[in-house]
Amino acid sequence: MAMATVKLSSPATGLLAGGRTRRSAPARRATVIRAAAGSYSDELVSTAKSVASPGRGILAIDESNATCGKRLASIGLDNTEANRQAYRQLLLTTAGLGEYISGAILFEETLYQSTTDGKKFVDCLKDQNIMPGIKVDKGLVPLPGSNNESWCQGLDGLASRCAEYYKQGARFAKWRTVVSIPCGPSALAVKEAAWGLARYAGIAQDNGLVPIVEPEILLDGDHGIERTLEVAEKVWSEVFFYLAQNNVLFEGILLKPSMVTPGAEHKEKASPEAIAKNTLTMLRRRVPPAVPGIMFLSGGQSEVEATLNLNAMNQSPNPWHVSFSYARALQNSVLKTWQGRPENVEAAQKALLARAKANSQAQLGRYTGEGESDEAKKGMFQKGYTY
Ligand code: 13P
Repeated sequence: MAMATVKLSSPATGLLAGGRTRRSAPARRATVIRAAAGSYSDELVSTAKSVASPGRGILAIDESNATCGKRLASIGLDNTEANRQAYRQLLLTTAGLGEYISGAILFEETLYQSTTDGKKFVDCLKDQNIMPGIKVDKGLVPLPGSNNESWCQGLDGLASRCAEYYKQGARFAKWRTVVSIPCGPSALAVKEAAWGLARYAGIAQDNGLVPIVEPEILLDGDHGIERTLEVAEKVWSEVFFYLAQNNVLFEGILLKPSMVTPGAEHKEKASPEAIAKNTLTMLRRRVPPAVPGIMFLSGGQSEVEATLNLNAMNQSPNPWHVSFSYARALQNSVLKTWQGRPENVEAAQKALLARAKANSQAQLGRYTGEGESDEAKKGMFQKGYTY
């Protein structure tokens, strides 16, 4: 494919009113800017479309080894490579998963890992038409000069890492940065989050990976839903400003926003209808229809809440595919059912399929919420939660 180019202004010369001729302006050299997607643009568009396909969403299992350790500790297991492999094997070898799941975000260890029988996890996914994805950010660190906020590391060496991940079978990437409402957010933190995401997105596209753009607006705080809406609009406007400045191909990205909800410590909870209304208002104001998919994070909502809210957003047609990319809201019942015991693997896989199916129905706007367990209704919010 020919390299995509963008030509910046070239001076026009010509006839002026009354037949006078204009003296030609001194020739300015046309600047040719290479679009970030480079030679991969067709493939990026088709990858993004496949992830954003009807009735499907993303299984996020890209916990770093430390965070995966927290999940395992919750059922009394040690954080060993063998236990992480056993858990990911349970998830990724679930028969029938591809009907509801279009992509799985992996941590680097899992991208290069295999089942205990020696089949690469990447091949388990491909067999079910699930795109392998990879977390590429290097986590959050304090942002000097801010109000106790953070910035996301990982740009150094990112191009070569992305190229290696592509060779290993990854076709999309994720970079998660956070914005905290109780901490401000400061203009500095928002700008840094947006700029970092845009630089990452350009680099990922240049190496064939569809970037998931994730500025997570944390649930922490006692603010109302209007305040979340205001902050979300601010954050997404900056993100799109810098994505455009970095010549990112909008048709080849996916977004991973937080839903617009009241803060977790706000005195009143919002209904799924109110959350859907505010979230869709924000998205319509800020996200161009060229973007193929909006894949929400669950952010500490209960499994059922996350599904109900998604369902409420799909009650009428949207300009983009509106779906899920949940970690906690897809894994909680699975872990509780598994308990690290081989004899529970089948039941745990059924639990995963049940959650994936419920969210698939919510993507299609057809989820009823019937027959959900009390466990699935328990919130998972933890103040100051870190991945
Ligand atoms: P949660 O659904 O647990 O918020 O995780 C989303 C995420 O960012 C992991 O990729």
